[in-house]
Amino acid sequence: MTNNELIEKINKLKKEKNAIILAHCYQNPEIDFVADYVGDSLGLSRLASKTDAEIIVFAGVYFMAETAKILSPDKKVLLPNKNSGCNMADMINLAQVKEFKEKHPGTPLVCYVNSTAEVKAQCDICCTSANAINVIKSLGLKKVLFAPDCYLGSWAQKNLPDIEIISYPGYCPTHLRIIPDEIVKMKIMYKDAKILVHPECHQEVVKLADFVGSTTQIMQYCESTNFKQYIIATEKGVVDRLKRDFPEKEFILASPKLVCHNMKWNTLDDILNSLLYDQHEVTVEEEIRQKALNSIQRMIELK
Ligand code: 13P
Ligand code: SF4
Repeated sequence: MTNNELIEKINKLKKEKNAIILAHCYQNPEIDFVADYVGDSLGLSRLASKTDAEIIVFAGVYFMAETAKILSPDKKVLLPNKNSGCNMADMINLAQVKEFKEKHPGTPLVCYVNSTAEVKAQCDICCTSANAINVIKSLGLKKVLFAPDCYLGSWAQKNLPDIEIISYPGYCPTHLRIIPDEIVKMKIMYKDAKILVHPECHQEVVKLADFVGSTTQIMQYCESTNFKQYIIATEKGVVDRLKRDFPEKEFILASPKLVCHNMKWNTLDDILNSLLYDQHEVTVEEEIRQKALNSIQRMIELK
């Protein structure tokens, strides 16, 4: 089947089945032709908590689909390709999060949504890359634990010098592939370009940025400013979409290594099969779901 045929079939089927398709902006760009919403983790979580659809097809990675299921237990949540995991989320399991908390008794834990439901169930509040600083600040405390991304933790620490942030040593292998030297070389080639960096990158890369933000925040910055060139240090999918949406501006991926292979598993074929055969359904054990829900909802309700 051609992509156009697949797109037509998926769009017809999703109406028939009262399904919604949510896609993260790191997905292959052709997914946008069937997606009802494309965005970052925060936007997608908010949408998953509000939709009236009976089925949520989550074109993203496992923890995102799991978050949707936690928020919408009565809906069927489907992950089109079951290989779509997240290396960072897999870096901390239940035993490790408990050990981390035991080392710092009485200190609340802020948990990046890039984590499993079991880990979220152990934390006090969740955050995404878009709101990590606000979430930590909102607690009004002098000391917090942060897991699993130590680089997002460092970025928050830099912005909140009066709070001690103790980070778990997790990281995103994709964002760590970019090294400062590549940015410096890019800046020599494109001297007027603005440098936009995701906070999952190493602090030495973050230091070189003109703007640091989540995927959607980076895209909004590009939309609302009028520079000719932008060097983008986050996953390639963001650059693909920016090039398509703003052809008059120039977007340069900071390194060809910035591809999250986990995110690229989902294809249009997988989405069609997902709708046809209800695959692959994501479930969360009720006791864990309830606990994880508290920390996600606390984040969503934050202004
Ligand atoms: P956002 O929070 O920017 O959507 O990023 C999610 C992610 O997995 C980044 O690697
Ligand atoms: Fe996980 Fe990194 Fe891929 Fe994001 S880019 S889904 S954090 S592996």
